[in-house]
Amino acid sequence: MKVTIVGAGAVGASCAEYIAIKNFAAEVVLLDIKEGVAEGKAMDLMQCASLNGFDTRIVGSTNDYSKTAGSDIVVITSGIPRKPGMTREELIGINAGIVKSVAGSLLEHSPEAIMIVVSNPMDTMTYLVHKTTGLPKNRIIGMGGALDSARFKYRLAEALEAPISDIDGMVIGGHSDTGMVPLTSQATRNSIKVSEFISEDRLQEVAEATKVGGATLTKLLGTSAWYAPGAAVSALVQAIACDQKKMFPCSALLEGEYGLEDLCIGVPVILGRNGIERIVELELSQAEADKMKESAAGVSKTNGLLEV
Ligand code: 2OP
Repeated sequence: MKVTIVGAGAVGASCAEYIAIKNFAAEVVLLDIKEGVAEGKAMDLMQCASLNGFDTRIVGSTNDYSKTAGSDIVVITSGIPRKPGMTREELIGINAGIVKSVAGSLLEHSPEAIMIVVSNPMDTMTYLVHKTTGLPKNRIIGMGGALDSARFKYRLAEALEAPISDIDGMVIGGHSDTGMVPLTSQATRNSIKVSEFISEDRLQEVAEATKVGGATLTKLLGTSAWYAPGAAVSALVQAIACDQKKMFPCSALLEGEYGLEDLCIGVPVILGRNGIERIVELELSQAEADKMKESAAGVSKTNGLLEV
């Protein structure tokens, strides 16, 4: 199993590290346009191998896509991250051009690869990859919901004063401060609805803290987060590489599901060797369905800024 990660910034490098530590891939190629950075990070990570007990070979490359040839899974993290006070949508101008050209170069060398898009605004970048590559929809996956759900579970565990392993919950909708739809009514602690443990007001606070999870970190760090994004990408890569048939909310091209079409937005999907093997259609409450519709309108508006 060969995985390529384009962008050796904090998210790309942390994703490579998590993939290596989980030890399921034979090779990870880290590629960046900045001279020497990918090679340096790959070497540094390889020097962890004997300490952390992995055999995954990590190779760095300065923009030489021939090194990525024959990848089974490719991850696009390239582009600029947001700065404090910025929305993900504001990155569209610079990132659209970068993502389009990276996707084209990757496919030239790995025509069968499954693509995971991480660059922001993620739902729109995923849609752009669909529009420009014409790949079947199971092979293009946007990473957002897996991360947002992890942040939701963190906030729920905090509110319930419970260990995170007791908590289950999902965030669907757009990967944006206003577009996320945390499914508060369906979140559970050991299969019991979390509303049995905390008040509706507290649950709403959890939902709001989840939606601005990325912005909160950007304010603290001065740039966007990387550990949880890297871990979330590595979980998607592992589900595909190991044919786990695991369910994650991911940005997928919708063709009528949830009453939506011609956009990519976060919905629960089953991930296996073929990428998105199924879109799971949940019964939403009226309030959740309304929020999903509003979220989709926001994503479509951002898609309208693309020149494709
Ligand atoms: C985040 O929410 C990177 O968009 C990503 O941290």
